[in-house]
Amino acid sequence: MRQKIVAGNWKMNNNLNEGIKLTSEVVNMVQDELTNGVQVILGCPFIHLTSVQKLTNGTKVALSAQNVHQEEKGAYTGEVSATMLKSVPVQYVIIGHSERREYFEESNELLAKKVDILLKNELIPIFCCGESLAIREAGNHVEYVCNQLKESLYHLSTADFSKIVIAYEPIWAIGTGVTASAAQAQEMHLALRNFIAEKYGQEIADNTSILYGGSVKPANAQELFACPDVDGGLVGGASLKSRDFVDIAKSF
Ligand code: 13P
Repeated sequence: MRQKIVAGNWKMNNNLNEGIKLTSEVVNMVQDELTNGVQVILGCPFIHLTSVQKLTNGTKVALSAQNVHQEEKGAYTGEVSATMLKSVPVQYVIIGHSERREYFEESNELLAKKVDILLKNELIPIFCCGESLAIREAGNHVEYVCNQLKESLYHLSTADFSKIVIAYEPIWAIGTGVTASAAQAQEMHLALRNFIAEKYGQEIADNTSILYGGSVKPANAQELFACPDVDGGLVGGASLKSRDFVDIAKSF
């Protein structure tokens, strides 16, 4: 059985005290209320990680960074390496978010290197993919997103690929309040699973967690998570409110 996951992506929000308060609330609610086996993950800015780790350590909540540099170490002022993240420790790292692809010009090729450095350091990549509205309207969305997987992930061995978490986030649904319909999410998730099966076999595809992201809220989570190929969510705005975020995790 593939793991059900609800991951928060705080993006560039919360000062340190706000992040600590939010984490404490989430950890307490998850410990008290969550009984459905969903893995809850907090995706924090780098400066929060060590403080948040002290609060999540030994609880059901896991920790994720939002980015990593592709090189081992060296003269890359302002960057953070996989070994640094491992030393916190964090368990997951979000890579390839559409905001990083757009504003920081991250290519599929660069992301392949980030995947490699994470796996080398036994960190789990949450690999984001997704199409723009123009690509969807042209009817090329499935082909486009499959190609993102192919160019960044398909160099991996079967053993390495089986460690990856995929997050499908249609760009037109991020931060817009417009959610993909359950049917649109299911269509893409099934297409991705079939595409993975072609390369790595049905068993690996069936065990790959594919999350949906884009305006996930308590009001729509249940319908999205009811789709057979939607294994959870990557949540932006609603992850900044502890009650909403934990209610999303409880929606399974
Ligand atoms: P929103 O939930 O705010 O739409 O953000 C989605 C997202 O980008 C998560 O990574």
